Amino acid sequence: MSSGSCRRLEGRVALVTGAAQGFGLAIAERLAAEGAALALLDRQADRLEAVAHTLAAAGTDAVALTADVAQPAAVRAAVDRASARFGRLDILVNSAGILRLSDVLACTEEEWDLVVDVNLKGTFLLCQAVLPSMIARHYGRIVNLSSSAGKQGGVLSGIAYNAAKGGVLSFTKSIARQFAPDGITANAVCPGTGDTPMGHQFTADQLAALVARIPAGRLATADDVAGAVAYLVSDDAAFVTGEMLDVNGGMVMD
Ligand SMILES: NC(=O)c1ccc[n+]([C@@H]2O[C@H](COP(=O)([O-])OP(=O)(O)OC[C@H]3O[C@@H](n4cnc5c(N)ncnc54)[C@H](O)[C@@H]3O)[C@@H](O)[C@H]2O)c1
Repeated sequence: MSSGSCRRLEGRVALVTGAAQGFGLAIAERLAAEGAALALLDRQADRLEAVAHTLAAAGTDAVALTADVAQPAAVRAAVDRASARFGRLDILVNSAGILRLSDVLACTEEEWDLVVDVNLKGTFLLCQAVLPSMIARHYGRIVNLSSSAGKQGGVLSGIAYNAAKGGVLSFTKSIARQFAPDGITANAVCPGTGDTPMGHQFTADQLAALVARIPAGRLATADDVAGAVAYLVSDDAAFVTGEMLDVNGGMVMD
């Protein structure tokens, strides 16, 4: 865990989905290190409770919310619980996601629905649930995890994932445009393949071939992504909205 160089988020309340592991965990740790209180959301209850416990032991006001981001009632209940607990939500980071690998010829309707529901509908549901209170308070920071696969089509990732992550980009730009007058920024982060449980769905040979195409010569670490998110949710990025921030060691440049 990177400690962060400053406490830019003192007094802020952040909700981070996918916080039980991988990028979401590192993001939660980084926002906590910068001073934010944390509502942690994931479907892995035990792991999430352990994360909340560790953060609380280090002095962060943290609560674990077990929910499936693709289930509207569960999302609404989790956001209501977080809002009641902290009085408000300033920051939303949507990192919950799943990867499947089927191409367009092999992808079943079930795989399509599952992957789009978690990655794209989940992002929509969380944003829809938090936006009214952000609008009312004229302040909000939203960061959605897309992927270089959402920009250029994936190299190894499946068609449903690539399409969902592309959807996350246009969804993010749409809310950025609509809610800029309300003091709300919405940005996306586009990591390249990461050194996380999701990234390790690929074989060692596949990962080696991917790394060979990355100018910086390595995979994205969770801390690489957490640092980018911490910037986007801070007031250093108050005038940055609708941005698609690449965190990929130079693999995609546009
Ligand atoms: N790792 C990569 O290579 C990579 C690259 C680009 C983008 N991303 C994106 O970054 C985000 C985080 O990826 P990661 O590498 O940390 O993945 P990960 O699989 O390591 O962690 C994802 C987390 O999301 C949670 N989650 C999954 N489905 C959920 C659901 N329906 N409801 C609630 N929680 C759910 C999981 O329990 C897990 O804790 C994802 O959106 C992913 O698509 C990852």
